[in-house]
Amino acid sequence: MPWPDLVGKRCLDIGTADGFWALEMERRGAADVLATDVPTPFAQAARARLESARSGVRYEERSVYDLEGEFDFAFMGWVLQMLDDPIRALKAVRRVSQQLLLLDTISLPLMLVPSPLARLDARRDGGEWFVFNPRGLRKVMELGGWSVEEQTGVLRERYFHRLDWKHRSGVRGRSCAVLASRADG
Ligand SMILES: C[S@@+](CC[C@H](N)C(=O)[O-])C[C@H]1O[C@@H](n2cnc3c(N)ncnc32)[C@H](O)[C@@H]1O
Repeated sequence: MPWPDLVGKRCLDIGTADGFWALEMERRGAADVLATDVPTPFAQAARARLESARSGVRYEERSVYDLEGEFDFAFMGWVLQMLDDPIRALKAVRRVSQQLLLLDTISLPLMLVPSPLARLDARRDGGEWFVFNPRGLRKVMELGGWSVEEQTGVLRERYFHRLDWKHRSGVRGRSCAVLASRADG
């Protein structure tokens, strides 16, 4: 993943769930890390984990749409796909952070089409709203006011690869990361 240098930076982890990425940013030298999420069953465990890790990571219940503060860097891992209004969310992040590293599931079948595209309700259970192809992911970042610095190729989610035929065949369990800065610099 294209992590920038985080030493001394004010960092934000959006949709942190268990706090894994917040701790990763602290490990990478961030001066301050705020982990946020909407109310979730993971919250208690996340707080306990952050305390037991004796980290300085702060935890706050807050939706991406209502972010406040000022950060040098934000990370958003597998959250965009869960949102009903991804462009509004990306604009909300842009208001508070200079840089964003986005990691999100991508649609492999849609990669066959050379246009920016998204698949709606990809899991057909309401658990995901939009799943983009890599060009779509880049496009939605730009529409959200971000200037893309780097985009990875297809990343395989190793944890899931043995689950079912969809993950084994690569129809699911594929992601892409995009590093971007505020379009106005
Ligand atoms: C698939 S999990 C990913 C968790 C974690 N970021 C990771 O990479 O392991 C999606 C997370 O997005 C959070 N989420 C959903 N809607 C959100 C919103 N409106 N604002 C912030 N987080 C949200 C969920 O609560 C959940 O923790």
